[in-house]
Amino acid sequence: MTEKLIDKVNKRRTFAIISHPDAGKTTITEQLLLFGGVIRQAGTVKARKTGNYATSDWMEIEKQRGISVTSSVMQFEYEGKRINILDTPGHQDFSEDTYRTLMAVDAAVMVIDSAKGIEPQTKKLFKVVKKRGIPIFTFMNKLDRDGRPPLDLIAELEELLGIEGVAMDWPIGSGQTLKGLYDIANKRVELYHKDGEDRFIPLTEDGTLPDSEELSHDPQFEETLDDIDLIKEAGNTFDLEKIAKGDQTPVFFGSALTNFGVETFLKSFVDLAPAPSSHEVNGGEELAADDPSFAGFIFKIQANMNPHHRDRIAFVRVASGEFNRGLDVTLARTGKTIRLNNATEFMSSERVQVNDAVAGDIVGLYDTGNFQIGDSIYSGKRKVEFPELPEFTPELFMRVTAKNVMKQKSFHKGMNQLVQEGAIQLYKNYQTDDYILGAVGQLQFEVFKFRMMNEYNSEVEMTPIGHRVARWINPDQLDLSMSNSRNLLVKDRYDNPLFLFENEFAERFFKDKYPDIELSEKL
Ligand code: G4P
Repeated sequence: MTEKLIDKVNKRRTFAIISHPDAGKTTITEQLLLFGGVIRQAGTVKARKTGNYATSDWMEIEKQRGISVTSSVMQFEYEGKRINILDTPGHQDFSEDTYRTLMAVDAAVMVIDSAKGIEPQTKKLFKVVKKRGIPIFTFMNKLDRDGRPPLDLIAELEELLGIEGVAMDWPIGSGQTLKGLYDIANKRVELYHKDGEDRFIPLTEDGTLPDSEELSHDPQFEETLDDIDLIKEAGNTFDLEKIAKGDQTPVFFGSALTNFGVETFLKSFVDLAPAPSSHEVNGGEELAADDPSFAGFIFKIQANMNPHHRDRIAFVRVASGEFNRGLDVTLARTGKTIRLNNATEFMSSERVQVNDAVAGDIVGLYDTGNFQIGDSIYSGKRKVEFPELPEFTPELFMRVTAKNVMKQKSFHKGMNQLVQEGAIQLYKNYQTDDYILGAVGQLQFEVFKFRMMNEYNSEVEMTPIGHRVARWINPDQLDLSMSNSRNLLVKDRYDNPLFLFENEFAERFFKDKYPDIELSEKL
């Protein structure tokens, strides 16, 4: 008998891991895949990590494919749940795609280096997730090293991110003296120096360890018990409703590298993380995750760098119904019907043809130019349109021109298409109409240049104008004399005026000079 759609949907857990580079995202992902039985050996993901290679290597890797594409979505089963981890690349391959990926998940896991606390990239990604109002789980990593006191780390969540932290487990010792983890949620202790099931010791009724356990007489264990008393009394109270809205984050401690605390985290995560729920569509209607008709939206398009085949992969987040190969869907933007014959589901080790993707799953569609980022597709009679994906404020800017003035046509065509696709953002100098590109990560420029050449035969010249702070201004208040080289006046693709400030200092200077002018950060 085929499983009911609702049961399948309820098994899905779709999330992304957000972190600052080096906090341990790759390492923890790998451990999760080990638990899921997808890989057999640590180091598999690591070997493919997009760490320090130059951009040209990235192009090469993209050409060979299978790598960044397959690691974009990792799927595995754990305790009867189907887990989808969506990758959010860091380092140089950080791009708007990274942000948009966060639009396609139902929860996020924030990995923090417990010696460093909250770092800038975590903060940026957190902001995007928080706006969505989805659950955020926190994993304080690298407990095997001397880090900051757990209470400080939790306090920092509230101070820097404005989210309440609620401890789900608590370290026993730390760094050199790390002995274990007091697992409040599952009422057991995870020992640090043990492997297998032996490492878990159930707590007694009164929340301590049986006398026969060596650790029960350890002064560090006593200290942990004191801490637990303290957080129970003075700490935040576990509140599922707050967690669901992203106002409170369950906090877990561990060491991904030594596979400590990771399973304890995963066990609670699959219980607490939400299954896919309904989406708001058509400007206010509700689309249930188990609605029998298929619907989904495209949140990312990955170009195939092979110049002989101009195909790309469009990543679809399934929001309702069931995806089957050969399905006819309507593209909401154009009303065109498209048969989806060529689709892939993502596994960590290989790409396989999709058979039963339901709400929560991600499907990769081979695209020959039909799709744009943010597109809605649906199979039923009812038209389904998802809300527009947000645009993200760029921080890096480049002036761009066509190298060959005779090739303006292909330059403009490529530029328009890539901007529409969401690969990069386009601005124009308010007075001269010169083109300025904006991105959140350097790699977006490189990819833009490469694709202009390969797909549109247009060689471009780019001059960096560096990091800038983009702030939109109310058009009614605009006075052209406000613009100078430190605060460049430009317009976005909808002709809205904005300033690109040289730095935050220049922005503050401007604000002091023109206190009545309203500046807004779009996000
Ligand atoms: P990222 O994806 O967030 O960028 O981080 P990644 O997992 O690559 O981890 C960054 C570095 O931190 C790696 O060391 C990794 O081994 C180490 N690491 C991750 N988790 C832990 C942990 O729990 N404890 C300790 N002590 N280290 C951890 P590396 O030296 O950059 O790489 P490698 O030479 O070890 O491969």
